[in-house]
Amino acid sequence: MNKSSNKKIAMLCSGGNAPGMNNVLIGLARKCLSVGYQPILVFNGYKGLIDKEWKNADLNLLQQFACRGNVYTKSARLPEFSNVEVRKIAANNLLDAGIDTLVAIGGDGTYHGANGLSKLGIKTIAIPGTIDNDVASTQYTIGFDSCMNQIVRNVDSIRDSFDSHKGVVIVECMGRRWPDLTILAGIGLNVDYIVTGDNILQIKDFIEIARHAKTLKDEACIFLVAEKIYGYDGLPTLNEIAKAIEAELNCITRFSVIGYIQRGGSPSAYDRTIANVMSDFAIDSIINNNVNKAICYSNNELSLIDIDVATSMKKENTNKKYVNIFNKINSF
Ligand code: F6P
Repeated sequence: MNKSSNKKIAMLCSGGNAPGMNNVLIGLARKCLSVGYQPILVFNGYKGLIDKEWKNADLNLLQQFACRGNVYTKSARLPEFSNVEVRKIAANNLLDAGIDTLVAIGGDGTYHGANGLSKLGIKTIAIPGTIDNDVASTQYTIGFDSCMNQIVRNVDSIRDSFDSHKGVVIVECMGRRWPDLTILAGIGLNVDYIVTGDNILQIKDFIEIARHAKTLKDEACIFLVAEKIYGYDGLPTLNEIAKAIEAELNCITRFSVIGYIQRGGSPSAYDRTIANVMSDFAIDSIINNNVNKAICYSNNELSLIDIDVATSMKKENTNKKYVNIFNKINSF
């Protein structure tokens, strides 16, 4: 390809931050520069397209963020971007600046934004980046592994406290309504019970499971529960559940919400690697004019799918995939 093409490639991160997003930006910028493209960093997600907040990437500066969980360009959610009139402003701003290509890193909402822009003359590539692993068109989203590591480290520490006091703890795990983080971390952590939206327990169930666990061991009993279940739709809060278990079993029972700790911290080695591999693939796709696509990672292979199709897919239920081990853990 012509190394002096000076084609401009805009890149942005949108939605909740995910460790590894900086590594995508670095990978994209490096590859752009090596093939003669000008990498343009857009700040504050899609809002940066409306406000024309962008600048040429400084690779030396970016590289310093390789081990950081905070996104150099910042990430943002912009619900107004679902409005085509708002998207038109973004597309026109890009085109007026001589930029016709955009790489967007994020989850489902980001994909919908990229799809919308692709219908307004912007050539788009979407790269999956969210801790939730809830993007239907790919088996893996950048940030998931780093987040899993944060959960494991945190629950290890929580276990120390509850082992020492022979207590019961209900730990709530982030992940929106998608259960991958809770299920896979729960399996890796050998918790006593995993609760997702598909197997909601009532207070009496928590008590029976904890009672049974206490007959088997003198150590912590840990429930790992997905967020946005308890305290919603008439279900008891975690505090109410903990109080009921403590009153019934007469042992220290608490709840602990991991929360935003999950989305921070240094990206894992795996996320850094996959971020660079996907970035390389994204720029190759642009070189080949294979655009308006989302990058998929499936069975250790990268591929492209029409962004229009990607945004209409439904993700396979994770509980089904891990049903045997899930049921074994939850076999009290
Ligand atoms: O999508 C990432 C995520 O951290 C979810 O796991 C969580 O439910 C949500 O974002 C929290 O959103 P907010 O940052 O708007 O509170």
